[in-house]
Amino acid sequence: MTGQLKSSSDPTSIVDLESFPKASVALVFGSSGGIGGALVEAIGAANRFEHAVSFSRNTSPSIDLLDESSLERAATFAAAKGELRLVIDATGFLHDERQEPEKGWRQLDAAKLARSFALNAIGPALIMKHVLPLLPRSGKVYSCTNAAPIASAASRMRLRAFNLAGTCGEWFRRRPPRLR
Ligand SMILES: NC(=O)c1ccc[n+]([C@@H]2O[C@H](COP(=O)([O-])OP(=O)(O)OC[C@H]3O[C@@H](n4cnc5c(N)ncnc54)[C@H](OP(=O)(O)O)[C@@H]3O)[C@@H](O)[C@H]2O)c1
Repeated sequence: MTGQLKSSSDPTSIVDLESFPKASVALVFGSSGGIGGALVEAIGAANRFEHAVSFSRNTSPSIDLLDESSLERAATFAAAKGELRLVIDATGFLHDERQEPEKGWRQLDAAKLARSFALNAIGPALIMKHVLPLLPRSGKVYSCTNAAPIASAASRMRLRAFNLAGTCGEWFRRRPPRLR
């Protein structure tokens, strides 16, 4: 995305999506979330893309970050609508009914860390695995994935876990032709 939001309270005030070819597809993973929802709204308001496709666990088709085949299906579904030129992964997991944010390092639990890593790092990396080969090889393309801390305690202690998803997003964004 080349522009920036003019105001954090007005996600529709995005300034510049004009440089994307008009007959293309914008794709947002995590559209039910705070960031994903605002981006879907902004993309719709910009009226630049022929199709805006978004996914969460409640869309049809739905995605689940723990189910690679659902991510592959979603990517194929979106690519069938036209050229994928803007792809944003705004998924993420901090806590739910099964898992509370850790308040200190004594609460770190291997199984919970593994689940967090699967949702916050492996899932986003697999999204990119299935999206990147579908991107056009010429013209403007932008894909990104959010960097998420793997554990809140680690984050509090400023020991952010290595974030595979964030790293891949940055790497692929900078060097897409070589890595596809
Ligand atoms: N908010 C911030 O200030 C901030 C700052 C920097 C980075 N981030 C990162 O940005 C990302 C999004 O943040 P947010 O505040 O928008 O989070 P959010 O409101 O909690 O949204 C999370 C999104 O991830 C989806 N999701 C969760 N578990 C899933 C699963 N198992 N399968 C498929 N989708 C799943 C949710 O969809 P469902 O409807 O299916 O639950 C939802 O759309 C996170 O990675 C966060 O760490 C956020």
